[in-house]
Amino acid sequence: MQVSTRQLIEEKREGRSLSGEAVQLLVDRIVDGTMTDLELGALLMALQIRGADLEETVAWTRVMRDSGRILVFDGLDRPLVDKHSTGGVGDKVTLVLAPLAASLGLAVPTMTGRGLGHTGGTIDKLLAMPGLRVDLSEAEILKGLRHEGFAFFEAGPEFAPADRRIYAARDRTATVPCLPMIVASILSKKLCSGAQALVLDVKVGRGAFMQSKEEAHELGDALVEVSSGLGCPARYRLGGMDEPLGRAVGSSLEFLEALACLQGGGPQDLRRHVIELAADMLDLGGLSEGRKKDRARAALALDKKEALALFRSGLIRQGARPEAVQEPIEALPRAPIVQKLLLEDHDQGLVLDLDPMAVAMAAHDLGSPDDPAAGVECLAKPGEVRKKGEALFRLHGSTRRQIAAAMQRLSRAIQVDIV
Ligand code: URA
Repeated sequence: MQVSTRQLIEEKREGRSLSGEAVQLLVDRIVDGTMTDLELGALLMALQIRGADLEETVAWTRVMRDSGRILVFDGLDRPLVDKHSTGGVGDKVTLVLAPLAASLGLAVPTMTGRGLGHTGGTIDKLLAMPGLRVDLSEAEILKGLRHEGFAFFEAGPEFAPADRRIYAARDRTATVPCLPMIVASILSKKLCSGAQALVLDVKVGRGAFMQSKEEAHELGDALVEVSSGLGCPARYRLGGMDEPLGRAVGSSLEFLEALACLQGGGPQDLRRHVIELAADMLDLGGLSEGRKKDRARAALALDKKEALALFRSGLIRQGARPEAVQEPIEALPRAPIVQKLLLEDHDQGLVLDLDPMAVAMAAHDLGSPDDPAAGVECLAKPGEVRKKGEALFRLHGSTRRQIAAAMQRLSRAIQVDIV
């Protein structure tokens, strides 16, 4: 007789590790609907309180990954390396990094998602470009990988369907912060993309899931161990999230900032972070020529616009109009109201602090991410000096009400001191 769901919940409640077979039974019942919401809630709470060891976490990840479609790209002559970010404010890294890594000889099967919580997802940012499609068939992804070295596609419902039900239940049962389930949720989806190695950008700080370095290292270590345990070597890097990354927050604005970076410009914090991640990807993909040289190769690919050329051609392959790709400022949605928030309190001031959560909430007040044109440009970041009358923010919205709400929030988001 098969062991009942109740018995397995009891095992976990008592703090015992669940075997691979037990996890398989549970996930089968989650996917076919024979496990009730009540049972799932109890199981998740037991996991939240008792945790899971490495072996069990590997089992959850493997079985959840195998609950749906898995992509396999044979016959490519380049190493397949993907990247995942745990999500931050103004995080447009993937838009730059995929074509950059591709220009350096890697193949990047960029399976990516919508926003979670206060962070906009890469898909939201990409879809700001009119005509662009992210619902690619396997053949279309393969063509992108062959021609440009990357393809952007959405992690649709056919990938890791077990995670859909589990994630929704975690959200309703106060069990989102369960580390083994965070790891299984992220990796079960990410390990379907066909990648042979994975670089993880673990965000840490006030604007991230993980608020302290300790928590972020714990997550990073667990992600690397589990991914490696499933045959996909991984590495993580912490990405600071005590202020927004770059200056733009909101889909169209972030798209333009990513383009600026691909043209050799853009904000320095974004450029530095992208170059480090590209060097990590080269290393994991076996194409490293030494850290210093890898950084220089990545910087050159940005400055010489090699990655930009691939980005443009990849966008056109995925349905964007060539004129739109050439003139994105004209093509991307623009907000009807654009207004600045000025420095008025001091003659001159040093920016001491910029709260990323408040900026994210202001972008949300303005309609982001549903409205791709909406968002905030942070025109003054910590460490910069601004004079009286100079702008601290540029707000993009569609109603006066939205602008007023975001203005109020942003005036409290920034701390400026007299120099
Ligand atoms: N991202 C996911 O996909 N799942 C989590 O649980 C957390 C972040």
